[in-house]
Amino acid sequence: MTESNNKDIFSEDQVKPFQPPEDFKASAQVKDDGLYKKAEKDKLAFWADMAENLDWTKKWDQVLDDSNPPYFKWFVNGKINVSANCIDRHIENGLGDKKAIVFEGEQGDTASLTYSELLKEVNKFSNVLRELGVSSGDTVTLWMPMIPEAVVAMLACTRVGAVHSVVFGGFSPDSLKDRILDSKSKVLITADGANRKGKVLPMIGAAAEALEDCPSIEKVIIVERSGADYDPIEGRDLRWEDLMKDAEEDFSPVEMDAEDPLFILYSSGTTGKPKGILHTTGGYLVGVNTTHRYVFDHRDDDIFWCTADIGWITGHSYIVYGPLSNGSTVFMYEGTPDYPKRDRFWELVEKYKITVFYTAPTAIRSFMRWGNHFPEGRDLSSLRLLGSVGEPINPEAWLWYHEHIGKGKCPIVDTWWQTETGMIMITPLPGVTPLKPGSATKPFPGIDAEVVDDQGEPSKPGQRGFLVVKSPWPAMLRTLYEDPDRYENTYWKQYPGLYFTGDGAWKDEQGYFWIMGRVDDVLNVSGHRIGTMEVESALVDHRDVAEAAVIGKVHEVKGHAITAFVTLKEGVEGSEELVKELKAHVGKKIGAIARPEEVFFTYELPKTRSGKIMRRLLRDIAEQRDLGDVTTLMDPDVVASIKEEYKGS
Ligand code: WT7
Repeated sequence: MTESNNKDIFSEDQVKPFQPPEDFKASAQVKDDGLYKKAEKDKLAFWADMAENLDWTKKWDQVLDDSNPPYFKWFVNGKINVSANCIDRHIENGLGDKKAIVFEGEQGDTASLTYSELLKEVNKFSNVLRELGVSSGDTVTLWMPMIPEAVVAMLACTRVGAVHSVVFGGFSPDSLKDRILDSKSKVLITADGANRKGKVLPMIGAAAEALEDCPSIEKVIIVERSGADYDPIEGRDLRWEDLMKDAEEDFSPVEMDAEDPLFILYSSGTTGKPKGILHTTGGYLVGVNTTHRYVFDHRDDDIFWCTADIGWITGHSYIVYGPLSNGSTVFMYEGTPDYPKRDRFWELVEKYKITVFYTAPTAIRSFMRWGNHFPEGRDLSSLRLLGSVGEPINPEAWLWYHEHIGKGKCPIVDTWWQTETGMIMITPLPGVTPLKPGSATKPFPGIDAEVVDDQGEPSKPGQRGFLVVKSPWPAMLRTLYEDPDRYENTYWKQYPGLYFTGDGAWKDEQGYFWIMGRVDDVLNVSGHRIGTMEVESALVDHRDVAEAAVIGKVHEVKGHAITAFVTLKEGVEGSEELVKELKAHVGKKIGAIARPEEVFFTYELPKTRSGKIMRRLLRDIAEQRDLGDVTTLMDPDVVASIKEEYKGS
């Protein structure tokens, strides 16, 4: 959570909202409040209307079944196939030669797939999956770089009715293992390695040991992307290329029920174990199709670039399912914004004439810090709309983005949503909503978001509270994979009947939402969600560590920097060497993104009398704030001594 309080530095009366530019508005998908009115009048009729934008092989009997909360069903008994909606129907509509995916690799290699070509690839890979025995309901794990094969694999899963679980390519083999074990995947699709800032990071080769402990995996399909070495395992490992060479080019999409699982996506929670967020087929597709169309003001000639990784929900919803279900052209880039130079993204915007650009505040803050000359050296005039997602965007970054990337002419859609919500929930509609920098503005039509106090009553304007959603929406998670208790406890227990987002927020006099970030122990490191408990579990897994507490220290660019307080086992001495070793250990267990920036050794951790670690105090120490109330501490001296140690380091 970026704890900068927008209210103090940027209250609504100091700000003159940015009106939608006239020429933008003139050709926008949404030009007035008609959609809001329609949804207000009858939410279910609105969503049913939106669902009509998709091709169903059998129409639903009921829009929403809410008879068994918090287990909701949308488009009951409707039948649909996601890949058919993302590909086949566009070809039938004459878009076969339109580019679906335009790709550039880190080394400057390029590739593209028209909708017809995408269909061919997806059909072939669907046959590959079927021949390997993958069928409806089986789980397939993807651990891949940002390459078109990842999209092909996801769509093929939906075509055969398999459930995909995409694991972020930057996660470590151990994290991959945990997710494979939890989801009991039969097949893993991966690569020999990934290109990262001019180097090759091995993938399958590095995962060899972890995969030995994954008995459910029958086959591993390997895309040869980087030339990294690996020792194929006879009978288990197969090359993507070999399989595709002989695969048939026809495959008819399997008819799925609207409520059949579509994918699992693991997200950090407040315990060490990631949550397997489960999304289903029909409602999810309606949600992302609708929001992509209206929030990003879809136009036929757009070149849409969402810079997220395919391993996060943003990639699922707004690289793959939203834009492709609207027949858009999606741009995909393999690498990072700073390689080989810090203008890489702007070079790509210029070269591919990107029209809509969607990224995260942490990236925007990096761009700001790197200097204006990078974007100024490139022609960004193709851009017409900008987006932001992942955390609250500070007004300074918003204004910089607006001026230096959007040149004052592009609206910015600051979109609030979560892995759990599946789709954008609070957002401007760029042709109608006056923008206030730092505010995600208002709920999307048909979304009942509210800020409530401790009692679950709506907060007054300006009063901080918790962000909740008051009624179901089509792309909502349906449960946590094989863990309904955790699903109920995490989201539905705080306020009976309301979905608890875990975010703090307030509303201003005009009903604009200002999101303050998470109220639980989930950190945001450069846009990646990491649970403090995950890092703590990784630390105590080390032979020398007795106990560990992890906090996020507010960091100008990254959002949070991970700081770890570690108590060593009896007889072990802290040293620089051990600090390095612990950082590397966390990197190995979770992935480089979770590696602590700082590690401090302390003889005790501050705890309440009931034994809970008081992270708030550690945060205060790390951010060098005055300490708040310490009276509930078991041993108040502990804090003073940690503070001394921290200062001394
Ligand atoms: C959390 C969800 C779905 C996007 C990728 C992250 C924070 C997200 C915003 C925004 C303020 C935001 C919230 C939310 N967040 N977008 N526009 N303004 N905060 O997905 O990993 O599930 O994280 O990201 O805290 O709860 P996620």
